[in-house]
Amino acid sequence: MKKLEKKHPLAIRWFHWINFPLLALMIWSGAMIYWANAVYRVGVGKHQLLPMNFAQPTWNELHLSYRLAEGMALHFFVMWFFAINGLLYVAYTLFSGEWRLLVPNRASFRHALLTVLHDQHLRREPPPPQKFNGAQQFAYTGIVLMGFGSLVTGLAIYKPVQFAWLDALLGGYPMARFFHFWITIGYLLFFLVHVAQVARAGWNNFRSMVIGYELHDAPPSEVTGD
Ligand code: HEM
Repeated sequence: MKKLEKKHPLAIRWFHWINFPLLALMIWSGAMIYWANAVYRVGVGKHQLLPMNFAQPTWNELHLSYRLAEGMALHFFVMWFFAINGLLYVAYTLFSGEWRLLVPNRASFRHALLTVLHDQHLRREPPPPQKFNGAQQFAYTGIVLMGFGSLVTGLAIYKPVQFAWLDALLGGYPMARFFHFWITIGYLLFFLVHVAQVARAGWNNFRSMVIGYELHDAPPSEVTGD
């Protein structure tokens, strides 16, 4: 016999699913800015990472090239919603106490290791069950810190005169752009791993992020009514 168990609070599910299209729009409009002009190069010294002509036909095909004004308008419009949604998510996890399940603790490193070994079929015994395993705790806390990093570095390159002190703290305007760029690459990597893990965990887990509940086997005492 199966029973439904509450897993994700309503607020968390809303923040999560609102964040997805917002982040997609931020990355899309960011790419429009990056591919607008060679001046938006990111590199070290003379070496440029992702030069303008890198995979140019693909960018043309995606209609991403040379649309600076549109890219900036979209980026600077959506960023407010991305920031507000992220800040509300963090505030909610703090006030509800959910952060205790999300933030890594002393046992998380070991738990993450046991999870990876079990996932790779190198260890038969699964790690002790908890809402978020150690690897998820590191990943989910990391992605929140990256969101914060995007806001801080974004602010530094959005208003470098007003926030000159922030640029200075980040090592200067080019460094702020460098971090802003690499955090975005981090999102893409996180996304690939996250979606692969969700697909691997199965429908029951995915559905719980939509409806809030997960199906579990009821203990024998509940089935027999003992
Ligand atoms: C197609 C896209 C996505 C799918 C299908 C998806 C699915 C899920 C699912 C099923 C969970 C629950 C995991 C569990 O309980 O074991 C989850 C949690 C989470 N996801 Fe995603 N996700 C997507 C995109 C994203 C993106 C773009 C981000 C952020 C960049 C993100 C960040 C998170 C975080 C931080 C949690 C933990 C939420 C909490 O409980 O506080 N997800 N996701």
